Amino acid sequence: MSNNKTVHLVLFGIGQIGSTLINQIEAVRLRLQQDQNLQLKIPIIANSKLAFFDKDGISGTWETDFDTFSVPYKIDEIISYVNQHKFENLIAIDATASVTFTNNYIPLIENGFHIVSANKVANTLRYEFYQALRVALKKNNKSFLYETNVGAGLPVIETVKNLYNSGDQINRIRGVFSGSLSYIFNTFSNADVPFSKIINDASNLGLTEPDAREDLSGNDVARKLLILARELNIKTEFQDIVIESLVPKQLNGKTTLHQFKSRSKELDAPFVKLKTALETNQVLRYVGDLDVAKNKLEVKLISEDRNSALGQLKGADSVFEIFTKSYGEQPLVIQGAGAGKHVTARGVLSDVIKLSSLIN
Ligand SMILES: NC(=O)c1ccc[n+]([C@@H]2O[C@H](COP(=O)([O-])OP(=O)(O)OC[C@H]3O[C@@H](n4cnc5c(N)ncnc54)[C@H](OP(=O)(O)O)[C@@H]3O)[C@@H](O)[C@H]2O)c1
Repeated sequence: MSNNKTVHLVLFGIGQIGSTLINQIEAVRLRLQQDQNLQLKIPIIANSKLAFFDKDGISGTWETDFDTFSVPYKIDEIISYVNQHKFENLIAIDATASVTFTNNYIPLIENGFHIVSANKVANTLRYEFYQALRVALKKNNKSFLYETNVGAGLPVIETVKNLYNSGDQINRIRGVFSGSLSYIFNTFSNADVPFSKIINDASNLGLTEPDAREDLSGNDVARKLLILARELNIKTEFQDIVIESLVPKQLNGKTTLHQFKSRSKELDAPFVKLKTALETNQVLRYVGDLDVAKNKLEVKLISEDRNSALGQLKGADSVFEIFTKSYGEQPLVIQGAGAGKHVTARGVLSDVIKLSSLIN
């Protein structure tokens, strides 16, 4: 049995994912100690403005402690604090959705931190930054894990990475990458309900972003597609992706959210027309599609055989079909809940544990 190892986690973002993660760590603490001699300590938690410091690691009272004792902070103060306490085995967890926070990645890496992130931003900025980040990681002998960037807790990135590193030839990755759009089209295909009502229901169920146009625009699917393409060493940019937005031109960014909601019935007739044009064995699916040979990244609405993996999708599940030389005609398929705070926090925690076993 290996010696005891303490890993120090600095958690940025204590919203849905961050707070669920803290609770999951607390619940598995004893087992990690017993099975792996691993102790996870969280000496700092922070939101966008305030941080709470506890050199012994936060406890079950972290929420009230944060409310009572948190103080305004700058990233340099976080770095000074961990240096001052000589904390080893440092992992910064990005559970924010922030663009500006990613400016901290390289300084954190240069100051001894590994990074685990649920935030997609760092992997979807321009390729130059993507590359600079990897150079900094290599130079400082640090790791960056981000399994939850695509498919939440589903093991998509790890699988794609393993296939690529082991020399398989990945020809295509295709799938329904968005839980909200999965729900919308799975429901629309099976029920005679207006498209606008389904969007409204999805929003009430908390499946869409507050402004559903962020989902319907295809940008989130495109970001996931970009991350997968870059795993295959395809040096591509967000602007290279061909995106078929589902937001009608007259209801795009120039209209307010209120206007969009009150006029969303304008989507009903065009979608009925699309559904009527389908053959009896077909359904509509909104997919991300990466064709490696053609170097083509597309986000689009397709008609799909209802008996295929994509066609049979239920609820708000995501599905990823990975076509490779070794797997031949039939793709490797990864399917399941592709969003939600429990599965996502679990995926972040898996990354933390994986990384903990690598560092000494
Ligand atoms: N929910 C899912 O199913 C899912 C799945 C996969 C990935 N993700 C990703 O997980 C991340 C977190 O999602 P969430 O649902 O937990 O978001 P959330 O509930 O909105 O929480 C975001 C947290 O980040 C903090 N924050 C924002 N900017 C920050 C900054 N510059 N520095 C430090 N903290 C900052 C916020 O603090 P304030 O309160 O001060 O703003 C808040 O505590 C996002 O990137 C999301 O895309 C989510």
